[in-house]
Amino acid sequence: MTRLFISRDSTALSLGAEQVAYAFTQHTADRGQSVEIVRNGSRGLFWLEPLVEVETPQGRVAYGPVQEEDVAALLDAGLLEGKPHPLYLGNIEEQPYFKNQNRLTFARVGITDPVSLGDYLANDGYKGLKNALALQPAEIVKHVTDSGLRGRGGAAFPTGIKWNTVLNAPGEQKYIVCNADEGDSGTFSDRMIMEGDPFVLIEGMTIAGIAVGATQGYIYLRVEYPHAKIALNQAIEAAYKNGYLGENIQGSGKTFHLEVRSGAGAYVCGEETSLLESLEGKRGLVRFKPPLPAIVGLFGKPTIVNNVISLASVPIILDKGGEFYKNYGMGRSRGTLPLQLAGNIKHPGLFEAAFGMTLRELLYDYGGGSASGRPIRAVQVGGPLGAYMPESQFDTPLDYEAFAAIGAVLGHGGLVVHDDTTNLADMARYAMEFCVEESCGKCTPCRIGSTRGVEIIDRIVADVDKAKNTELLRDLCDTMLCGSLCAMGGMTPYPVLSALNHFPEDFGLHPTKA
Ligand SMILES: Cc1cc2nc3c(=O)[nH]c(=O)nc-3n(C[C@H](O)[C@H](O)[C@H](O)COP(=O)(O)O)c2cc1C
Ligand code: SF4
Repeated sequence: MTRLFISRDSTALSLGAEQVAYAFTQHTADRGQSVEIVRNGSRGLFWLEPLVEVETPQGRVAYGPVQEEDVAALLDAGLLEGKPHPLYLGNIEEQPYFKNQNRLTFARVGITDPVSLGDYLANDGYKGLKNALALQPAEIVKHVTDSGLRGRGGAAFPTGIKWNTVLNAPGEQKYIVCNADEGDSGTFSDRMIMEGDPFVLIEGMTIAGIAVGATQGYIYLRVEYPHAKIALNQAIEAAYKNGYLGENIQGSGKTFHLEVRSGAGAYVCGEETSLLESLEGKRGLVRFKPPLPAIVGLFGKPTIVNNVISLASVPIILDKGGEFYKNYGMGRSRGTLPLQLAGNIKHPGLFEAAFGMTLRELLYDYGGGSASGRPIRAVQVGGPLGAYMPESQFDTPLDYEAFAAIGAVLGHGGLVVHDDTTNLADMARYAMEFCVEESCGKCTPCRIGSTRGVEIIDRIVADVDKAKNTELLRDLCDTMLCGSLCAMGGMTPYPVLSALNHFPEDFGLHPTKA
């Protein structure tokens, strides 16, 4: 039977993948053709979705973007034998956008049926767990430390150090919490992996539990991710049934239970302590630190809070060793980062690359420049609290330290591209407004400062005491940077100051007097 692959990823679904799959079912049945339609994850080349791949003796052949009205003509042209058609793309893995990636964490996404444990096992799944079960807890943590993995949620904190703290924290009960709130604008790598390869996250969390002695895990899932929730729950059920979750995992005597919990729908609930409050059933208010969640976390117990991608990177580290993973990257940024290209870009999608590539290469060689065809003016990297980077900074390598050196952040690896029609003073005002909306309200610089920030930007743009108000805005940013309790208020100045410094003309300021 011929196998067709049509993605079940939310992006593909929003572009009509469900209708395309239905049309293939109907048309092939009408023609008496026997096909099996596998609903895989997305390959991440969004401009080609809905992508349809067919398994042929020469390998998989792709067509895209396919709409339901194309289906009859595609079948007429011989799609089931991989024959030519205007939408023919050949082997998708030969496209430069795909070929030049380093797919470590996303190795299986787009290839397997996401909720088939059989597919997962046949494609190197659970090899990391198998190795982990043969190691002492401290040895597992050592692999993670040796890999150089740093948290992919935003702060880039070394994962091995966090795990070691929880390992050494006394406590009968410990927890593994996966931060799947993914609130940053222009980011979707967490969603894609949860929809496209949920077992890799489950395996990563199970390894984490065994490493630090935690028997219960929770995935705090962004409430707007219904498809991820379905995929995760299907995979969790299969893992329980087959002895990969629950008690006595694969006969090892180790226990790990896992549940998905829906997020509360607030950006600040992605901040780890606010997330823990929310998971405990309370309002998402940020906690003071110390104590760290690693010592006093969920329900007051030692807790690992890690991002989806951090945890999903663990299976390959335990499979191939910390040194293997460390071989990718540059400086202190080791391994790969699944970059997400969004906004005004010709080729939006997911691009997993080793650290070190420049922003320019990513934007032009792979992103293809702006979708509008106009010059790219600014790129906001790292979510709504990330800096706006001007053209003069596009040669910066994708590396945590190189970005920090110019007052920018890589964060969760999301890029939102703007062409020369974007007004950066509007964007700066939006950043302050976003902070007004999303502030948890616990500390004054963020709660009050953001409202004052909107007012000051309005005055600058309206030409009211321009010089005085610009100085006041800088002063306010300084207070928010240094005086906020968490990065919500503490990083809102990043987009504001970068807009002011690199695009003063949008505020009606002379470049040298900004
Ligand atoms: C306002 C705010 C929102 C955040 N949102 C997220 C989020 O959606 N997902 C995430 O993984 N980390 C988010 N973080 C970072 C977390 O607080 C925390 O650093 C992270 O979950 C730790 O995991 P990691 O070490 O694997 O990155 C956010 C932080 C702040 C201040
Ligand atoms: S910075 Fe904002 S979100 Fe963070 S604790 Fe203060 S008020 Fe809450």
